[in-house]
Amino acid sequence: MAHWLIAGASRGIGLELARRLAKQGERVTASVRSERGRATLATALAPLGDRGRILSFDTRDQSQISAAAAQVTEPVDVLVANAGAYGPKRQTALDMDFEGALDLFSVNSLGPLRVAQAFLPQLRLGERPRIVMMSSVLGSMALAGTVNAAYRASKAALNKFAQCLADELRPAGVAVVSLHPGWVRTDMGGPGATLSVEESAEGIIKVVESLTLSDTRRYVDYRGVDIDW
Ligand SMILES: NC(=O)c1ccc[n+]([C@@H]2O[C@H](COP(=O)([O-])OP(=O)(O)OC[C@H]3O[C@@H](n4cnc5c(N)ncnc54)[C@H](OP(=O)(O)O)[C@@H]3O)[C@@H](O)[C@H]2O)c1
Repeated sequence: MAHWLIAGASRGIGLELARRLAKQGERVTASVRSERGRATLATALAPLGDRGRILSFDTRDQSQISAAAAQVTEPVDVLVANAGAYGPKRQTALDMDFEGALDLFSVNSLGPLRVAQAFLPQLRLGERPRIVMMSSVLGSMALAGTVNAAYRASKAALNKFAQCLADELRPAGVAVVSLHPGWVRTDMGGPGATLSVEESAEGIIKVVESLTLSDTRRYVDYRGVDIDW
């Protein structure tokens, strides 16, 4: 039984990860930022009894994250920094909502790093500790495309933070990967996406369960297939 910490589990992929892990009988700590999210997540974690715990924080808010981290005293084996947003309506290189883009960078690029730093003490005590930065193939510098420029750039920045964190934490034995969950039917992915949340979450859990320190600094998808940075 591993202890998983999922940041951003009120809906979508994060919620499905929490639900599946709870069914598997893992220990799950997961976060939300609204009462509605808390109620949904509580139902998903119900099978776990006191091995499930809900934290509350917005990943843009350093003090909320620190306060939540202070409540976790036991080791964490896997951190999934899942919380993410799509960003403003206007986000091409020719027409950018700059305030909206800045906020998106706080959520998608800095948020996962804030969370990883805050829970590092618990991860250092974990069994085969792993940090999963929930990225997107759209963050690949090798991929062409012009729509969603702010989203793409926010995930590219996250990928760079993931690489730096992987290099910093290799000596401590903590593996760090960037992971693309596939194109998934969630509020963000939309109804036309190719994968269900169940298919994505099942793949992600399999990939993460098999990760070792030799995988650190990889950029992989939900099937474990490498993506060109
Ligand atoms: N769906 C896809 O096709 C796809 C593809 C590639 C990558 N991804 C990535 O996968 C992750 C999950 O996506 P999803 O499709 O499940 O999205 P989603 O259904 O829109 O859910 C997003 C989750 O992130 C949380 N969140 C957003 N901003 C937050 C903040 N500032 N602080 C704390 N939590 C916050 C949301 O909480 P609230 O309910 O409180 O808003 C929600 O739990 C994201 O990082 C996304 O970029 C998704």
